[in-house]
Amino acid sequence: MSEIPDFQAIADEAVASIAAADDLNALEQARVRFVGRKAPLTEVLGSIGSLPSRDRGRVGKEGNAARKAIEAALDSRHAMLEGEAMGSALLADRADVTLPGDHFALGALHPITQVRLEVEEIFLGMGFSVADGPEIETGFNNFTALNTPDGHPARSESDTFFIAGGEHDEVLLRTQTSPVQIRTMQTTEPPVYVIAPGTVYRRDDVDATHSPMFHQVEGLAVDEGLSFANLKGTITYFLQQLLGDRDVRVIPHFFPFTEPSVDVSVAWTDRHGRTDWLEVAGAGMVDPNVFANVGYDPERWTGFAFGFGLDRIAMIRHQISDIRLLYEGDLRFLEQFS
Ligand code: PHE
Repeated sequence: MSEIPDFQAIADEAVASIAAADDLNALEQARVRFVGRKAPLTEVLGSIGSLPSRDRGRVGKEGNAARKAIEAALDSRHAMLEGEAMGSALLADRADVTLPGDHFALGALHPITQVRLEVEEIFLGMGFSVADGPEIETGFNNFTALNTPDGHPARSESDTFFIAGGEHDEVLLRTQTSPVQIRTMQTTEPPVYVIAPGTVYRRDDVDATHSPMFHQVEGLAVDEGLSFANLKGTITYFLQQLLGDRDVRVIPHFFPFTEPSVDVSVAWTDRHGRTDWLEVAGAGMVDPNVFANVGYDPERWTGFAFGFGLDRIAMIRHQISDIRLLYEGDLRFLEQFS
């Protein structure tokens, strides 16, 4: 017989050229050369039957071991080259995610809106509901029905933005949220427990504590047997819920539509440590004339009303000393409340 090939040498040569194959094409050529159909090793293994029987065992064993070693080398080189090919394809296709991108700013509620929502929560918890009314009002709802007849100083040009109309049928920007009291009582039967937050307008010059547009929260309770104690208790509870445990002061005042009437103040310590009373609301027992104006029986029903300055409350709440900050829209200020 032809002499028995040196299987170890074949395997060594194959493994070396497999290791040298630096792409899948070269590897395929190595595969054909060493274990393909016409490879010497394949031919030897395919003709074992024609060998002298004493050689068959050895040739079969060593030849197959060489083929296994070559195939194992092919497999691992294949896996490696494929991984590299995948890696470079990914590298070539990659998207650059290191660019800074567009900053998407998240908005937040304005501090006045935040305080309004807190106020609503507290009154909802006390059984009040939330009412709403238009900012453009009639002179009747804003003044006359609220016991503020023609000629009253509060109606004068200097306080009110009039839009249209004559002396008895003016159309105006509401100067207070109190007309929502009238609208509510005209459309519902007592008992009534409502609050009405909203924007109001007065012809004031702008300074640290005045703005021609500001916000109030009106409150109205009408029931049998309501007393001034109910008014004071409601207001004190509300203020303490919102602003923490602090003194609440109520002193006599005058409003055309309440009798008696009071001003409500809270103790406020400014950032220099000075404590003072800060007025936050007007309030009082609903004047019987107002009940008569809306068709409620003043003999049967009693009620209290209040009007809080929402901007004032926001300022106390957040130690803001200038109301203009609330309306200038300066993000450096507003971002503190997001
Ligand atoms: N409407 C009054 C004001 O704007 C406040 C107020 C409301 C007073 C309700 C009494 C009752 O000053």
